[in-house]
Amino acid sequence: MLNKNLHERYIREAFSPSNYSAFQTTIIWQSPSNIALVKYWGKHGNQLPNNPSISFTLSQSRTETKVKVNYKKQQKAAFRFLFEGSETPQFGRKVQDYLLSLLPYFPFIQHLDFEIESRNTFPHSSGIASSASSMSALAACLTDIELQLKGDVSGKIDMTKASFMARLGSGSAARSVFSLAAEWGVTEALPNSSDEIAIPLEQILHPVYKTFQDSILIIHGGVKSVSSRAGHALMETNPFASQRYQEANKQTISLIKILQTGDLDAFIQITETEAMQLHALMMVSEPSFILLQPNSLAAITAIRNYRQRTAVPLCFTLDAGPNLHLLYPEEYRTQVIEFLHEELLPLCYQQQWIDDKVGLGTSTISSF
Ligand code: PMV
Repeated sequence: MLNKNLHERYIREAFSPSNYSAFQTTIIWQSPSNIALVKYWGKHGNQLPNNPSISFTLSQSRTETKVKVNYKKQQKAAFRFLFEGSETPQFGRKVQDYLLSLLPYFPFIQHLDFEIESRNTFPHSSGIASSASSMSALAACLTDIELQLKGDVSGKIDMTKASFMARLGSGSAARSVFSLAAEWGVTEALPNSSDEIAIPLEQILHPVYKTFQDSILIIHGGVKSVSSRAGHALMETNPFASQRYQEANKQTISLIKILQTGDLDAFIQITETEAMQLHALMMVSEPSFILLQPNSLAAITAIRNYRQRTAVPLCFTLDAGPNLHLLYPEEYRTQVIEFLHEELLPLCYQQQWIDDKVGLGTSTISSF
């Protein structure tokens, strides 16, 4: 009930101060990336998911964003965007379009000049998707600016509102705001679930997942051949789409239980099936596309052999790209890292990997 029709509520409650003339502020927020366990693939309407999804929030792969705003003195829009210290017109346009799309909820945007600086804590060349971390960091900044315009400088923003705004920038970004794990999209397993926002799963999480490791293998750096926007769109004509949405609904219900009980065998089963279904959907799209690389498959085989040989509960997942996320409980870290060095790094692009783990969500930071 609580999370019903937020779109209408946020428009109804849109805040516009009568006087902006003295307003200026600088704020800095950081937000992590996340890795989906049950995947979101296919959307409708204004960034609404065709099935529910669940993710772990990461800790090392983050975006830091500084926003400086001033009352706009001239009619002409003043908007400046720097990514890792330089003007990047392609990202700048994306950010500006995003800001304009939020005007119905945040009308104050049209009265302010923006200077935005953003950087990632992970290398751009790694091919790690940064839209979840960057859009959630920016959404948090805007939610905070609204709060400050209301006279509250505590930085205690409404995370549900930040999740809603993040979703409008990138669907998966809705989940990044919450610590440890989050769910997005209506599911019968969670009465509070909603297509408009993610909800936190921290409260129900078995302790084993709270320190779960995610060692990210960079199999191939660089830009993806098919963007996730194009991939989502191809679900509209995918002959397996409705079966996929049914599967994802079932997997969500099962995974919610598994996240509570700590059943690692069941966790592995669902996580790997989800990764495979995502990439199978790409392969059977019309037109078909393949984002996996030969070394992605070699690494999958090596991981499955290792698990069989050692009984270490290590599994993998993939996002929309060739890189593998190795997921496992912290207590197996030493063994897994040894295996990674011996058998997996030779399969990686310039032997690159990112040592990540489950972490906290979006927060303010004091320096940039
Ligand atoms: O948030 P988007 O539009 O970049 O889509 C993300 C899609 C996947 O990463 C493949 C799955 C997910 O749920 O994060």
